[in-house]
Amino acid sequence: MSQTKTYTIAVVGATGAVGQKMLETLEDRNFPIKELKLLSSSRSAGKKMVFKGTEYTLEEATPDSFENVDIALFSAGGSVSKKLAPEAVKRGALVIDNTSAYRMDESVPLVVPEVNEEDIKNHNGIIANPNCSTIQMVAALEPIKQHLGMKRVIVSTYQAVSGAGNEAAEELREQSQSFLNGEELEASILPVSGDEKHFPIAFNALPQIDKFQDNGYTFEEMKMINETKKIMHTPALQISATCVRLPIFTSHAESVYVEVEQEDVSVQQLKELVGNAPGVVLEDDPDVQSYPTPLSAAGKRDVFVGRIRKDLDHKNGFHLWVVSDNLLKGAAWNSVQIAERVVANQWL
Ligand SMILES: NC(=O)c1ccc[n+]([C@@H]2O[C@H](COP(=O)([O-])OP(=O)(O)OC[C@H]3O[C@@H](n4cnc5c(N)ncnc54)[C@H](OP(=O)(O)O)[C@@H]3O)[C@@H](O)[C@H]2O)c1
Repeated sequence: MSQTKTYTIAVVGATGAVGQKMLETLEDRNFPIKELKLLSSSRSAGKKMVFKGTEYTLEEATPDSFENVDIALFSAGGSVSKKLAPEAVKRGALVIDNTSAYRMDESVPLVVPEVNEEDIKNHNGIIANPNCSTIQMVAALEPIKQHLGMKRVIVSTYQAVSGAGNEAAEELREQSQSFLNGEELEASILPVSGDEKHFPIAFNALPQIDKFQDNGYTFEEMKMINETKKIMHTPALQISATCVRLPIFTSHAESVYVEVEQEDVSVQQLKELVGNAPGVVLEDDPDVQSYPTPLSAAGKRDVFVGRIRKDLDHKNGFHLWVVSDNLLKGAAWNSVQIAERVVANQWL
């Protein structure tokens, strides 16, 4: 970035899976930082973290931590955002929140810059970062919606454990070692931390991400459904989701079925639209086995799309394979990207 103005930034949840990537991304992007505050719970307060070669001491996040902060990047869980985001706003900070606390609040813009950057302008102090699996899907679907119209979406996800935080990633590491040693697998985090029942994730697939809702869907599935309609401004979209956790450390993959409104669309047309979309990279050539995978997408900021093909029984139906790093485009990069748009347009 080539800005002369600099900003005081707070990262809330700096020690977490997302918070650490937030710091890496701010550094990679050379975000114009005047002062940086690293905040956590009392557990990590006093510990040190390094940013651009300088050591910072973590502080416990309290309302007063946000005095003189311009932008606060929150990723410390919904209850922390509910409690502290209004305190940050009261003290003049703009909050970019990674949790689900405010996403469906009508007064809070829910933003993926490639899709609805203009919504940022309507903020009242809080901008919400969507759910990781939703972000990558809407980035891939936006050019299809814009040029061909979109009637229906059915998505099945293949999600990484880092989406459930550092503890879940550690659980996969330990269980994998136990499995290979022929030992019993101990599960205490997944599918939902704090729930009564837990299942091993190593060498397994868990068809539950977040808590079950009364309608039989999980909260993650409802997030994909509701957030997609809000971000894309498509309240009438027919959309359904099945979310599955797999023993992958980083990057979510998704099988997305989309039914377009325009007739006689070719696979080539769809490939061109998706391939030219901002933030999206087409990796799609079956002749040379070219398609994205969680490993190939990890550590990259883009959304990768492959396996585009026409449904054999529905002439308006297409299948896509969408992969992205859940901690980058799904969380840290999308948040920093929002912050970049805010400062570039002076939407603070
Ligand atoms: N992982 C993803 O792909 C992803 C994507 C999008 C959104 N999110 C959301 O981002 C949030 C964090 O996720 P994560 O994966 O980074 O979790 P994580 O690895 O478990 O990290 C949690 C972070 O929150 C801090 N924290 C916990 N309680 C706190 C408190 N009372 N006050 C201040 N800080 C506190 C922790 O600090 P300590 O070191 O002190 O414990 C830690 O820094 C969640 O709401 C999650 O839903 C995650």
